[in-house]
Amino acid sequence: MFTRDEAARFSPSGPGDPQQDETLAWELLYRLEPELYDRLASAERLHPGVVNWLPRDVDQIVEVGAGSGRLTMQLIERGQRVTAVEPALPLRRILRRKIAAAGCLERVRLVHGYFDQLPLPDDSAALVVSCSAFTPSPEHGGAAGLSEMERVCRPGGCVAIIWPNHLDWLAARGYRYVSFPGPMCVEFSSRDEAAELAGIFYPQAAGEIRRRGWRRVPFEVLGINPPRDLAYKMLA
Ligand SMILES: C[S@@+](CC[C@H](N)C(=O)[O-])C[C@H]1O[C@@H](n2cnc3c(N)ncnc32)[C@H](O)[C@@H]1O
Repeated sequence: MFTRDEAARFSPSGPGDPQQDETLAWELLYRLEPELYDRLASAERLHPGVVNWLPRDVDQIVEVGAGSGRLTMQLIERGQRVTAVEPALPLRRILRRKIAAAGCLERVRLVHGYFDQLPLPDDSAALVVSCSAFTPSPEHGGAAGLSEMERVCRPGGCVAIIWPNHLDWLAARGYRYVSFPGPMCVEFSSRDEAAELAGIFYPQAAGEIRRRGWRRVPFEVLGINPPRDLAYKMLA
């Protein structure tokens, strides 16, 4: 399933067991069942405050780990040009389809790449952002990936990590934190969709979701923190 490059990153000791290795399971999902991932990500919508906080009317935005475009489709409204970096080809294909449907192909460039090897020049964007993709571990960014994002961001620009984990790690590297309040739910498209996707991704909550016939499910019921926050650094 993986290219040689992907295997070296995501399964370095040879074929692993996705039932034991959650990182490997997600990377396989992106490549084997990209539409399933897209259904999940479409339901887990970002808090509107997060996107509104980002700089607007900028000439160039870079997004790393764009996936199937949960954030990308909103970035198109904030920048003249968007470069979306995404390593998984099946997710890039879904994103291309969405961008084409929105009539924005001439303003959005989709490229293959990784946090730690961004195929982009120094100082090339006013906003370099990532959503639900960056972690301190080397296969999903790490110190090398953060330094690449900062290299690509021009002085005066902003590097933003949306829905961050490991806040202390980011704070130690000069990142500040913003969070937006209010109740948040995962917005499945129907009750059947809620029951099906919960059965796959949140089995511990699936019974309650089915019993109550929920379409909108509070994040707390799923046991995950809602996508209501970001860590950012304004570059000097
Ligand atoms: C949880 S998904 C998030 C996708 C999208 N940003 C969203 O919010 O729906 C994580 C994404 O990071 C990408 N990714 C994984 N490792 C990466 C790396 N080393 N560099 C860049 N992207 C990576 C995956 O292919 C996937 O698209």
